[in-house]
Amino acid sequence: MNVGIDIAAMATGHYALDLRFLAVARSVDPRKYTTGLGQDFMSVASPQEDVVTMGVEAGLRALEHVSDPTTIRLVLFATESSVDQSKSAGIYIHHFLGLNPSCRVVELKQACYSATAALHIATAFVRQNPAAQALIIASDIARYGLNTSGEPTQGCGAVALVVSANPRVLVVETTTGVYTRHIMDFWRPNGQDAACVNGRYSALAYLEALSKTWADFQCNGGGSVGQIDFMCYHTPFTKMAEKAFARHTEIARSIQRGGQYLPAFLPSAVLYGRRLGNCYTASLYISLLSLLENTAQDLAGARVGLFSYGSGCVAEFFTGVLAPGYQNVLFAEAHTAAIAQRALLTVSEYEAFYTQSRDPVCVPEVRYYTGPLCFLGVKDHQRHYRLTLCNTESCTQVRLVS
Ligand code: CAA
Repeated sequence: MNVGIDIAAMATGHYALDLRFLAVARSVDPRKYTTGLGQDFMSVASPQEDVVTMGVEAGLRALEHVSDPTTIRLVLFATESSVDQSKSAGIYIHHFLGLNPSCRVVELKQACYSATAALHIATAFVRQNPAAQALIIASDIARYGLNTSGEPTQGCGAVALVVSANPRVLVVETTTGVYTRHIMDFWRPNGQDAACVNGRYSALAYLEALSKTWADFQCNGGGSVGQIDFMCYHTPFTKMAEKAFARHTEIARSIQRGGQYLPAFLPSAVLYGRRLGNCYTASLYISLLSLLENTAQDLAGARVGLFSYGSGCVAEFFTGVLAPGYQNVLFAEAHTAAIAQRALLTVSEYEAFYTQSRDPVCVPEVRYYTGPLCFLGVKDHQRHYRLTLCNTESCTQVRLVS
């Protein structure tokens, strides 16, 4: 039975910072960010956005193409920007999407990797229950701190993946290569809302994990690199994905003699990443969407290789085959509009957002642009949200990116 991604939708924060402005403010040559890291903008979440609001926006979009949402019997919420130590943020999502109570909901954590664990759990679930569907929400806000070397790689976003039998987007293949090793390249201790990171070490660890997962994929009977048409990589910043492709090509050339066919790594696979920044768990799947929604050629039947990396670290290499007509269930126009319509912040406005508490005291009104769900704040240790389909009139921030 073919099982995989039937629908894929994304959402991001409703504000953005142009990294050229950040570079000037930090007395850095802007080309370090735009060329050296390969990032143009970062999405910024306002104090009224969090992983739940972005997850609900992506989920509502995905549900537009689900004919019977009552068949969703498993919701997996993947994040490393969790809003509670006990309650799964997936339960808020399940509530605001109005899903069937006859459903399992759980949150998964392993840095940027957990959405990939969710995908493999979901495909196994659907193989056992072919009439059911699973919904994966991967949602994150990447924070490193003001004036740190990680700052220009911040970002935020969410993806919603509906997993079913006979999927309309990507048939997920069962052979995978995995790798786990205890390292301290990136972590976020309890009580801290910015990550601790050994940045340059983390980039080396990422490349090492790519080599190890590829070797494991081969040991498990995975195809040669010549059987893969296109690549998508976890994209903390787009230059990292380019380095991954260079490493992958080097490995392939060292084991295969002669001018064998190599997969393509298209600029379209990192177009969204260049504009959103790191979206942690969502980032690999945003790269897949970016490839599908920004490549004019029909890729149906093509095999895509996907490399997922979560610091700490766990990584996985796997493949999928694109379904015929996948274009019919994409949301390319809505995604392009969401990115283009983010309100552009000055550096001081971004810093003001950054320094506000991520758990503000609850207010009765919507003060900023958000998606259909607004996070009002915390009262008596409980998070309060308001569903509002359009809040632009009541916003205090009105400048839009042209
Ligand atoms: N013009 C053009 N390029 C320039 C330049 C200029 N004026 N100045 C510098 N550069 C280039 C550098 O040569 C370098 O390119 P190469 O790596 O190809 O040599 C690039 O810009 C970055 O410069 P630095 O290495 O000096 O940058 P840095 O040390 O200040 O910061 C970083 C880089 C360590 C990655 C930092 O951004 C960081 O810590 N980021 C967060 C961690 C991260 O994203 N790690 C990725 C792997 S871990 C992972 O994937 C999990 C996850 O999501 C976090």
